[in-house]
Amino acid sequence: MDYREAYEKLEGYGQLHVLNYYEELTEKEKEELLEQIESVDFTVLKYCKNNTTNQKGEISPLNAMQLAQIEEKREEYTRIGLDEIKKGRAAAVLLAGGMGTRLGSDNPKGMFDIGITRPVYIFQRIIENLLDVVNAGKTWIHLFVMTSDKNHEVTVQFFEEKNYFGYKKEFIHFFKQEMVPASDYEGKVYMEERGKISTSPNGNGGWFSSMEKWGLLDIVNGEGIEWLNVFAVDNVLQRIVDPCFIGAVIAEGCVSGAKVVKKNAPDERVGALCLEDGKPSIVEYYELTEEMKAAKDENGDPAYNFGVILNYLFRKKDLEAIADSNLPLHVVEKKIPYIDENAELILPEQPNGYKYETLVLDMIHQVDNCLSYEVERKREFAPIKNATGVDSVDTARELCKENGIEL
Ligand code: UTP
Repeated sequence: MDYREAYEKLEGYGQLHVLNYYEELTEKEKEELLEQIESVDFTVLKYCKNNTTNQKGEISPLNAMQLAQIEEKREEYTRIGLDEIKKGRAAAVLLAGGMGTRLGSDNPKGMFDIGITRPVYIFQRIIENLLDVVNAGKTWIHLFVMTSDKNHEVTVQFFEEKNYFGYKKEFIHFFKQEMVPASDYEGKVYMEERGKISTSPNGNGGWFSSMEKWGLLDIVNGEGIEWLNVFAVDNVLQRIVDPCFIGAVIAEGCVSGAKVVKKNAPDERVGALCLEDGKPSIVEYYELTEEMKAAKDENGDPAYNFGVILNYLFRKKDLEAIADSNLPLHVVEKKIPYIDENAELILPEQPNGYKYETLVLDMIHQVDNCLSYEVERKREFAPIKNATGVDSVDTARELCKENGIEL
């Protein structure tokens, strides 16, 4: 894209300030800025004044398959799931493109060391858990790792340095998610350098289309992978490509599944899996009305009692039908580093604008049904979101200890 074309594109979106420092840039910086202007999707900015794209339909409860029910059929489900795994029909997708700002480390979250007497990295915990299934099925499982522009190189290098934590290198595939501009409250993009628009990863909802762009569906299709287990980087206890979970989804004739835990309290900060206009959906804790909080199921238990833990199983066939563009855009208030009028970098202490994201949880609403599959939270839910307090390194360490994991 040349200067004139860049100027016209920016003018169309009211973003001409991006060129304020153009004349001061080196030739190389000019070229890079023009390239960035060409690739950035400015259309998301129109949502800055209207972050209500996620209007909900009619909500009703969705029964979960609970621990006792699962226990009764554990053997059968595990056999079905393991058979699928042995045939190479299941793979894992690690969502590791987030910025992990709440944890406050500059490195990718997965590089965080939760060890006490020895190093135990978050990535290592994930690989160790996956290796349990590899050993049970006596077959390697493909693992796709989503990163972003902000952390790709360092993530790949870390896996290499650590020798993939004993995993087979050929079965780990890295890919980058897309970036979107970050803006102030008026929808004007911030600049992070004189020649660089401030961008952030586009949320965890674009993983399948990013895999497609990276050509990774050739592996998925070539290997006959039918099921993709998508999960977050920050839960150090979660079971991935869990044979019993996969078997239960298949045996129940479902096209997707979500691992859920019984909520600690009605206002616990996890989304509840339910039905929206008859289709599976996730209501956030802040969207639950008083009436919904008080609603009871046939056993007298709270009707919206099961929270998602960002561990979903999708059938590949259905993912192809979910276009990215169908997912609602979430406009999230964040702290965005930017340069001021003197071109000095400012690291704000309070939120100063918006990032624009699509979310994997909205993909659940695009499929016909979803098995709500309970897991025991003490055994499978140890998220690390914050440096201290709730869902922190301390709570995760405690839970690891309870599960006999040496740190
Ligand atoms: P979070 O919602 O916890 O976001 O991500 P985050 O960016 O990691 O952390 P904060 O909010 O800045 O503290 C849940 C999961 O989705 C991934 C994260 O890496 C994590 O596994 N994610 C999030 C992406 O892969 N890409 C994104 O753009 C956002």
